[in-house]
Amino acid sequence: MKFAHDYVTRQAQFATYADAQYDRSWQQGASGAEQLTALHRKQYIFRNISKLASEDTFLHDTTYDDFQDFLRHGEQEEDVHTRAHYLQAYAELSPLFVGIKQTDLGGSEATIGKLAIGAKTLAVKTMKSKNNLPAIVVDRIIRSHGILARGLPHYESLVAADYDAGIAVTDFLPGKTIAQLIFDKNNPTISHIPDEHLQDFGAAVASGLWRGVGGDWKHGNVLYDAASGFYRIDYQPTKTPPPASELQDVQSLMDDIPNHIAFDRTLHQAFRDLGVVTLS
Ligand SMILES: Nc1ncnc2c1ncn2[C@@H]1O[C@H](COP(=O)(O)OP(=O)(O)O)[C@@H](O)[C@H]1O
Ligand SMILES: [Mg+2]
Repeated sequence: MKFAHDYVTRQAQFATYADAQYDRSWQQGASGAEQLTALHRKQYIFRNISKLASEDTFLHDTTYDDFQDFLRHGEQEEDVHTRAHYLQAYAELSPLFVGIKQTDLGGSEATIGKLAIGAKTLAVKTMKSKNNLPAIVVDRIIRSHGILARGLPHYESLVAADYDAGIAVTDFLPGKTIAQLIFDKNNPTISHIPDEHLQDFGAAVASGLWRGVGGDWKHGNVLYDAASGFYRIDYQPTKTPPPASELQDVQSLMDDIPNHIAFDRTLHQAFRDLGVVTLS
């Protein structure tokens, strides 16, 4: 019963409603008090999402009316559909998670388990519940990875997600972070980076910035693999068009990499060529 199609769709509807309401209040410059109300509603929904999905009720009648209105308008149908897709994928995959070992890779938000399925390796990320509600963090990942950056190459992609478990499943990516590589300058992996890798990543980053994903541009959030190139991990929804501060952060990271990896001037060049960053 728990994973029946209706239940998954209902969860996706509530999640999309909570996300859209909060986002609107934030983007339309609502007052502090209104934003706080929207935040509390969002937290309430994500804390109770499975109960709401099964019982089809809110505590407050006015909110329930809002929710019905929201569903009637149907503007966010695609986001509902996308969320339902990832929740359903989790329902199908989760029987395979039994007994997998979760490793703390130093992430502030999640422990990571590795799961091989055929030729694919997945990262099963279980949220630590220290700061945010796990379900809210999971939904933020659905939004950034599953909705905004869906299908964007060189960005970590989402496979499945679950609010109750506080789990997001992504592709397990090959390679090491730039942060790890710069401590290992003799590593043969970085003795030659083909132009193609730089161009491909530059194009993906440019596209990501306009789709509204990025944030936290640092060496620990970019992986490099000799066979398949660069990947951006640990990214979030950001403002579109990208504000100057976001572009500045991209530029700072890309400017800094050649300080550590001497051969790597071309990465900076690749970004300049693609017009991702404005250089003085
Ligand atoms: N999909 C992934 N594939 C491979 N390694 C990953 C993946 N996601 C995270 N990691 C590893 O885990 C580390 C921490 O993850 P990250 O999401 O960046 O957390 P945080 O920034 O909160 O520390 C990364 O630096 C990387 O080494
Ligand atoms: Mg990180």
